[in-house]
Amino acid sequence: MIMAFLLSYIGAVSKKFALITVHFTVFLYLGSGVIGTFHHLYWTGSPIPIIALGAVFSALEVVPLTLLGFEIVHNLKVNREGGVDYAYKWPVYFFISVAFWNLVGAGVFGFLINPPIVLYYAQGINTTPIHSHTALFGVYGLLAISLMLFSVRHIVTRASWSDQMLKWSFWCLNGGLASMAVFSLIPSGFYQLWYAIKYGMWYARSPEITSGPVIRALSWARLVPDVIFASGAILLLLFLVRAIYLSFYKKV
Ligand code: HEM
Repeated sequence: MIMAFLLSYIGAVSKKFALITVHFTVFLYLGSGVIGTFHHLYWTGSPIPIIALGAVFSALEVVPLTLLGFEIVHNLKVNREGGVDYAYKWPVYFFISVAFWNLVGAGVFGFLINPPIVLYYAQGINTTPIHSHTALFGVYGLLAISLMLFSVRHIVTRASWSDQMLKWSFWCLNGGLASMAVFSLIPSGFYQLWYAIKYGMWYARSPEITSGPVIRALSWARLVPDVIFASGAILLLLFLVRAIYLSFYKKV
């Protein structure tokens, strides 16, 4: 909703399009999102109707998330039309990555663990962090960065704004998150799921498995992706310090 407001404010989309999007989003969130949160209650002693409602409505959440995927195409067009020196290029790219992670992290990886029968075997094993890392940082972390950049763009001067630093930060944050999922979270999640289905969840969560050589090796495999990810965060911080310094102290 905030992005619809901002994009219409800077003239990237029409006010009518922004308004339709806001109404549609409210309708979908109220229609599926609220009841969808029951998926957190499946195996906490909830009555069967709660499990059924949670399963159906959170599966429905995937519909708006898929539709949001189309936002990627639309926003790429916004950036193309803005030209090479477009001031909002990187804030818009960060927003594009939000739509991407909405689709993959929340949509695909959320759906992966969403059916109650799957979560019966998979609750609290490493299939959850596949989804929670990619959805929580991928969607809300990157959205917060995108919104911050839209605001900062209005506060600091154009000369102090480094597209190059933002470009590296963008790729390190997204690349670090993607490689963390591919090289560590996904293999360790499926490794535990295999044992959960074969012998039961108690075994998948036992010290033999969670402190065993495979999970240890996969935890070490996160080292490089984590460093890449952290570099993205540091670069973003440096970008901000530099922009504030140049705008307010050097007055460029
Ligand atoms: C941007 C949206 C979303 C965010 C930020 C998000 C975030 C999270 C987080 C942080 C957890 C871990 C909670 C815990 O361990 O107690 C979680 C769990 C879960 N999420 Fe999502 N989620 C999102 C969307 C979805 C969607 C659309 C679905 C279904 C298609 C879904 C299905 C689940 C399920 C089933 C769990 C429970 C996993 C378990 O108990 O082991 N989530 N989510």
